[in-house]
Amino acid sequence: MVLARGVGTTVKRYFGYNGHTDMARNIQKPRGTQDILPIEQRYWFWIEDNWRKMMLSAGFGRITTPTFEDTNLFTRGVGETTDIVSKEMYSFKDRSDNPLTLRPEGTAGVVRAYIENGMHKDPQPVKLYYFGPMFRYDRPQSGRYREFYQAGVELLGELDPIVDAQIIAIVMKYYTKLGLKDIVVRINSVGDAKSRPKIQRALIDFLSAHRRNLCKDCKRRMTKNPLRVLDCKEKSCQAVAEEAGGVVLDNLNNDSRNYFTKVLEYLDDMRVEYELDPRLVRGLDYYTHTVFEVTTKTGGLSLGAGGRYDGLVELLGGPDTPAVGFAVGVERTIDTLKQQQANVPEPMKPNVFVVQLGDDAKKKAIQVIDRLDNAGYQVAHALGRGSIKSQLRVADRLGTSLAVIIGSQEVHDKSVIIRDLNDRTQESVLDRDMIKAVQRKLKEKK
Ligand code: HAM
Repeated sequence: MVLARGVGTTVKRYFGYNGHTDMARNIQKPRGTQDILPIEQRYWFWIEDNWRKMMLSAGFGRITTPTFEDTNLFTRGVGETTDIVSKEMYSFKDRSDNPLTLRPEGTAGVVRAYIENGMHKDPQPVKLYYFGPMFRYDRPQSGRYREFYQAGVELLGELDPIVDAQIIAIVMKYYTKLGLKDIVVRINSVGDAKSRPKIQRALIDFLSAHRRNLCKDCKRRMTKNPLRVLDCKEKSCQAVAEEAGGVVLDNLNNDSRNYFTKVLEYLDDMRVEYELDPRLVRGLDYYTHTVFEVTTKTGGLSLGAGGRYDGLVELLGGPDTPAVGFAVGVERTIDTLKQQQANVPEPMKPNVFVVQLGDDAKKKAIQVIDRLDNAGYQVAHALGRGSIKSQLRVADRLGTSLAVIIGSQEVHDKSVIIRDLNDRTQESVLDRDMIKAVQRKLKEKK
């Protein structure tokens, strides 16, 4: 674009931009983030509304925690050698030099809130759910974002295999309720804290024999935290992990094995379809006992994941408290709903459209819209448009099939025209009868 000199100087003075190059380079959203446009929102309403309904009816209360927290919460809680902490955190210092991190996941913040707000003194278990954005400096690709949403659930203060099974049953019911088909929960046990030394020793032995095939990070962390090697995203490490298969399950102590067997028995009783996956260890250090992940039966990225974390509350300074939870990956779940062409309803389809012609009619339209709104209808209009044709085009785009039309004659007669936009029949009714007539018409159309 070429600007006349005088104009360019003025623009520069007012907006501080310095020439054509900056002007040409529009600012774009950061890599790995998304704009969620109105047309997409029905999926988001569907995911969130169903989550809220299901959680509230199962007795969980909503909790909202900050989107950024003290960095130490995650280094300590999620684990220093995890990919999340070592490679993926958005960490910064604020102007007072406080170390902060945009939360990469929701569990650590919920546990901090549980301790900080004295919820461990309330009757247990404490049942909480949440919905919100998480941030990870992940490699952006399909289903992998740097800002993504999780719908999460945490149950704190109860250690019983039936609780693990119940959480799994609830989330599977949720996915089914959304309309997803062919999904399965993959499940494994990483054992309790007492099992860990034996599992680690066995894994280190195994991994030492395959050291040369591991990536640089895994060579380093294999002695410190060998479980992490099993969920490394590098191909060469995945091949080793595949072979390591049963090492974790084989080295569980008796308590852990019995606990896991009970979880599976309860799942059988509840008729929840699961797949035993001895390789599954999950990418966060806090897990103990049961770990699980939901995918479609054909595999692919996890649509959600969770597990038991009996040591985390204590690790973060609270009393010894067992806990279990799960988080739905919202974007991946939406992608799968789309792939499977699930029937996701439009949340706010207006049922009445108000059309007006002329200044007086426009004024009357404002009252008519208000009356319809007060009567509980979802009312749409295009008050800024003049011609009937262009207003009806908007009604058509919104999929509204009933119109209330007001012209100067209707203003004079204290009436409105009610028009069926499908069969194009219409009738004139007095203002005072409008709500009843709209009600009758909509009932007929059902
Ligand atoms: P997670 O496996 O790290 O677990 O994440 C849970 C889900 O979030 C994943 O299964 C996936 O669907 C989604 N997700 C993770 N990273 C990304 C990404 N970069 N882009 C898009 N979606 C992603 C946790 O976060 C645990 N806090 C879950 C939990 C709750 N465990 C116990 N309670």
